Amino acid sequence: MKMNYRVFVTRKIPKIGLDLITGKYNVDVWSHEHLPTAQEIVERGTGCIGLITLLSDNISNEVLEKLPKLKVIVQYAVGYDNIDITEATRRGIIVTNTPGVLTETTADLTWALLIAASRRIVEADRYIREKKWDVAWGPEMLLGTDIFGTTLGIVGMGRIGQAVARRSSGFNMKILYYSRTRNEGIEEELNAKQVDLHTLLRESDIVTLHIPLNSETHHLISKAELEMMKDDSILVNTSRGKVVDEDALYTALKERHIGSAGLDVFREEPISKDSPMLDLQNVVITPHIGSASKNTRDIMSRMCAENLIAALDGNRPPNIVNPEVL
Ligand code: NAP
Ligand code: GLV
Ligand code: GLV
Repeated sequence: MKMNYRVFVTRKIPKIGLDLITGKYNVDVWSHEHLPTAQEIVERGTGCIGLITLLSDNISNEVLEKLPKLKVIVQYAVGYDNIDITEATRRGIIVTNTPGVLTETTADLTWALLIAASRRIVEADRYIREKKWDVAWGPEMLLGTDIFGTTLGIVGMGRIGQAVARRSSGFNMKILYYSRTRNEGIEEELNAKQVDLHTLLRESDIVTLHIPLNSETHHLISKAELEMMKDDSILVNTSRGKVVDEDALYTALKERHIGSAGLDVFREEPISKDSPMLDLQNVVITPHIGSASKNTRDIMSRMCAENLIAALDGNRPPNIVNPEVL
């Protein structure tokens, strides 16, 4: 027990992980309805050796410089673009994340959005609830696009990209992918072909994004890229909102340069209640719930506790993001 070690958890995470650390350290869990602001993270984090953070917490250099005792930041997510890793590393702070355990859950949601966007599922549901279903059956009512036999373009053939690709096997799809490194094992297993981004955008019927957000991938999909996509094509984004230029996407959807989109992530979260995106019928949106299954969130919570304990025991945390800090 190291009760003199203070740890601030920026949101109540599932009990299973908290149970592993409360009683071991002096654990303080944020309990307000709103998320803590940077100022509030600094206030509650002062004197802390550890933080457990969410992807919605902006852990900038300004925050880090006010938390000189900090030794470890345990991110309750696989993506960590909200943390200034360079500065954390420079300050000797270990950063960990939750890779792998949310892969299948996020791939499931990606497919849910893909199918919902292709077959206009949400729009069809809305149609009935808005009491518009007056004619029993229509030869041209709510026509969507096929998934079977089409080409799926995967941008970022990492853990989630591969899991999404594997799910296509019953749909007889051709798979194209764009990643910096070639993965011959995957090419053989999934009959996938590595292409450059522009070829992928031009040839795919469905494009799905699975790259991390960083300075190289910010606005990777902008106006020019959207214009390369096929007329009826579908864009699915469960990576990070800022990988796409959201204004350009709005225009492409509105003017039907592309057919539709399925989006779980946005440049600003929550999306503004006035966002024009919400007025478009040809977009299916979910509030960043890629990894949101009960089971997966429990496993992520336990993984965070294990990473925190390893770091505070002076051991190498299993999911360290910046090993150069050790
Ligand atoms: P991962 O295994 O690291 O896969 C990322 C892939 O992107 C890698 O294959 C990498 O391959 C490729 N990549 C990286 N930078 C690139 C670049 N500049 N150009 C082209 N390809 C690039 O990560 P993951 O576990 O699959 O997660 C991917 C992302 O999904 C996370 O970073 C997170 O932002 C997001 N996510 C969202 C949710 C949600 O709730 N919606 C849930 C989980 C994850 P190369 O290095 O070969 O290029
Ligand atoms: C969720 O978006 C994650 O990065 O885990
Ligand atoms: C549709 O329900 C059909 O029978 O084709």
